[in-house]
Amino acid sequence: MPPRALRAYRGARGRWDRNDPLFDVDAEPGGPLALLYESVTHLPGYFTYDDTVAFSLLMATQNISGVSGDVLEIGSYHGRSTVIIAQHVKRGERLIVCDTFEEATEDTYPDPPSPDGLRRTLSRFAPDMGGTLEIHACRSDEMNLDGASLRFVHIDGGHSHDVALHDLRLSAAHLAPHGIIAVDDYKHPAWREVTTAVDAFLDESGFHVLADVNRWAESGRKLYLTSSGSDTSHTA
Ligand SMILES: C[S@@+](CC[C@H](N)C(=O)[O-])C[C@H]1O[C@@H](n2cnc3c(N)ncnc32)[C@H](O)[C@@H]1O
Repeated sequence: MPPRALRAYRGARGRWDRNDPLFDVDAEPGGPLALLYESVTHLPGYFTYDDTVAFSLLMATQNISGVSGDVLEIGSYHGRSTVIIAQHVKRGERLIVCDTFEEATEDTYPDPPSPDGLRRTLSRFAPDMGGTLEIHACRSDEMNLDGASLRFVHIDGGHSHDVALHDLRLSAAHLAPHGIIAVDDYKHPAWREVTTAVDAFLDESGFHVLADVNRWAESGRKLYLTSSGSDTSHTA
């Protein structure tokens, strides 16, 4: 039975539990974030609507709370996630992007992007970005982040244990007060080493999970990590 009908049926028989995680697949979200996400779905990539909402809420909340600093994305691919992130980068901040682009890595992706293509995508879909764009076309272990103070990081580059752990450590070493690290593909069955890397990082670092988000249409979860506060752990 389709979810909407199932919901109505259960409701009519008094058997609808409000905590039932039934997902309304027919919902058609409206408003600016849905329109923004729709504008980038033609770009090859893996960023979901749920990611768009979570990133936008977190970064906008940082902005109204006075949290500032540079923003880093490791693994932009064609910029689907980068465009969403760029909407919230303010004047005086840098959007630092690291991707191997056409250079081969241990993970392979169809139709590799180019730095110029990413620049064009950002100027078309994030024309109002206040900060400056800095693209590092290299592996993340070749990138120099000296002087960076990061308030938000998206880690979605190499998926081996060593690379993911490197990216977490590097981000943590440059994280600004109240900074947040979002890491993709936790518990993804095809990328098991991301999970071992995140678990090792959590064991060694003093960071904790701010949110653990299971997303519609994704096998892995997006984890949001922070070292700020200590009683803010939630699961979505
Ligand atoms: C999963 S894709 C990123 C998807 C994008 N964030 C999105 O949501 O649409 C991973 C990207 O990371 C890049 N990559 C892989 N290994 C890397 C490494 N060691 N350093 C930097 N980038 C890497 C790949 O070239 C690819 O473009």
